[in-house]
Formats: sequence, C-alpha cells, structure tokens
Amino acid sequence: MPKFAVLISGSGSNLQAIIDAVAGRRLRAQIVGVLSNNAEAHGLNRASAAKIPTAVISHKDYATREAFDAAMATQLDAWGAEVIVLAGFMRILSPGFVKHFDGRLFNIHPSLLPKYKGLYTHDRVLAAREREHGCSIHLVNAALDDGPVVAQAIVDVQAGDTAATLTERVHKSEHKLYPLVLGWLADKRLQVRDGQPWLDGARLAQPVCLRF
Ligand code: GRF
Repeated sequence: MPKFAVLISGSGSNLQAIIDAVAGRRLRAQIVGVLSNNAEAHGLNRASAAKIPTAVISHKDYATREAFDAAMATQLDAWGAEVIVLAGFMRILSPGFVKHFDGRLFNIHPSLLPKYKGLYTHDRVLAAREREHGCSIHLVNAALDDGPVVAQAIVDVQAGDTAATLTERVHKSEHKLYPLVLGWLADKRLQVRDGQPWLDGARLAQPVCLRF
C-alpha cells in the first residue's frame, strides 16, 4: 500500500474524510504521519485518535521559507511518505520542496480552478453571482493553486446562499472527492507522468468533473 502523509493547518475535516476512507478500506493506503505547522490544529487530535503519528513544525521557528520546508521534508522522508496530501495546509511551499516531491504532491482547493485561486473563494463566488462553485484536486507546482487539475466536484450556488452555507456545501463535496481521487492514486489508476495526470492509461486533458 502506498504511504501517504497529510499536511494540515486547521480543522482537518478533509483529513478525517481520508482517515475514514482508509478505515473503511475504500482507500487502500497507509497514512504514515500528519504534519501541522500549527500546534493548535484540531486535525492533530483527529490523527491521534486514529493512532497516526503526528509532528508539529512551526514556520515561526525558521528564518526562511526554505529552512522551514527543508525541516518538513526531513520529517516526511523519515516517515517514508511517498505521497504528500495537502489538506488545508496554509503555507506556500518553496520550489525546492515542490521539486523534492515532484509528481507526489496533491492539494485540494475550494473553487473550480483555474477560477478563484487564493483565499475567500466562497465570498468571491457569491459576489460574482456565479451559479456553480465547487472544489478541485490538483497537482502542486511552484505557483499558488496552479498545477494540473485532476478532478473537480461541482456544487450549485443556491438562492439565499451565504458564505457559510456555501462553505458547508463545498466542504461536503471535498470530503467525497479527496478520498475518491486518492483512491485512484492508491490503486494506480491515477498516475503522474512528466508532471501530468493520467487516468486509466490516458492523459487527462480535462479534469474529471463530478457532482455528488
Ligand atoms: C478546505 O476548504 C480546503 O479546500 C482548503 O482548506 C480547507 C481545509 O478544511 N484548502 P479542513 O481543515 O480540511 O476542514
């Protein structure tokens, strides 16, 4: 089974969905560690409850982004992590870190990329009166929220939606999409060749789009 490490900064509800998928054998992978830059992250409690090793490496303890990232890479390599899963990890990664885990680094972002990179996506979607929103799972490259998108879950924006209701609906879609896509990876249906995602032997020219 492939060895996954999950990077978090906060609540870790996506981490929980991944833990549950592993426990339910829908995701045939081993979570070898959960790393947080924030000692207060609730996700650390979720990991501990599932008896998964945890580590806290605070960016505040390092003079440079590169030094912080190098410390994280050392921990991830010590765990033997083969796939790095970013799940609400709120630090930008340096090119050196991305290169180190080239083709093995995935992120989930709460928008239909390439639209709405960055923060406050739900507010911006509402302000723009979009009819559709959702989440994307993408390979990480050196630019923010920019690598090739593997899959997206689309949710409808409903009349009367607030940022809170939309956040909740997108979150629910994240909890389905991330374990599913990581399952494709664990089962080798999803592969990365020359930085590009391939599914079932064909290069993904477009992301897989789903509605749950
Ligand atoms: C999610 O919305 C994810 O898309 C974004 O950060 C949030 C993390 O939520 N990158 P959680 O910590 O998994 O609950």
